[in-house]
Amino acid sequence: MRGGLNLLLSVVLVALVGAYAGINADPNVPNWEFLPNMVRSIPADAFAPSPLLPGGRVLQPPPPGTIPRGLPPLPYTASPEDAARAGVELTNPYTAEDPAALARGGTIYANYCAVCHGAAGLGDGPVTLRGVPPPPSYAAENALKLTDGQMFHILTYGQKNMASYATQVSREDRWKVILHVRLLQQRAAAQAAAQAAPPLAPATPPSPPQ
Ligand code: HEC
Repeated sequence: MRGGLNLLLSVVLVALVGAYAGINADPNVPNWEFLPNMVRSIPADAFAPSPLLPGGRVLQPPPPGTIPRGLPPLPYTASPEDAARAGVELTNPYTAEDPAALARGGTIYANYCAVCHGAAGLGDGPVTLRGVPPPPSYAAENALKLTDGQMFHILTYGQKNMASYATQVSREDRWKVILHVRLLQQRAAAQAAAQAAPPLAPATPPSPPQ
């Protein structure tokens, strides 16, 4: 009995000493790995150097002129002439009757535009209080005259103090946010009309002086 226990303890001791000897003191060198098949990938890593491929690396640049699938390039440049042409040629594929598009436009506006243009689009966003030149109000005549296509061109290519939002806001979302800009213009017009209207006559005529 005792001999058997001693034998077992000896085996455990030898196993532990063996395991300790197998542990590498250098943390950068892997120890013995059990079933390492899936640890190291067989295909070449995208960013690894390659002695075989052009440029000495695995990842190859796309051929010049490659465009993303389903996103043909816009036939415009950042010039005022092309802004005018976009204003005539492009129409908004979404309408305010599409509640999902309108709601998405409101979200984009709150996230990307309200900081400068203000929640109501009057050009009084929070950054204008901190020295950023305020944008004009959407209720001003110039913005009312802009077509959707012109606004799309401004959002895509920028205009003077306003940068391009093409990388932050997708093409679809740029059209949808324009729906929200139109909504803000309608609200501003309705408010101006309400303020211009003569005050309602009092419901009961004032009693004559006694
Ligand atoms: C960093 C501040 C800033 C942000 C953010 C910003 N804009 Fe502007 N925006 C401006 C300024 C400044 C102008 C005026 C540019 C100029 O002088 O022509 C402008 C002009 C415009 C105009 C033309 C108005 C006019 O009367 O000419 C539209 C439309 C517009 N912005 C829409 C948007 C939308 C939609 C977003 C969000 C995707 C947005 N802007 C985000 C600063 C900003």
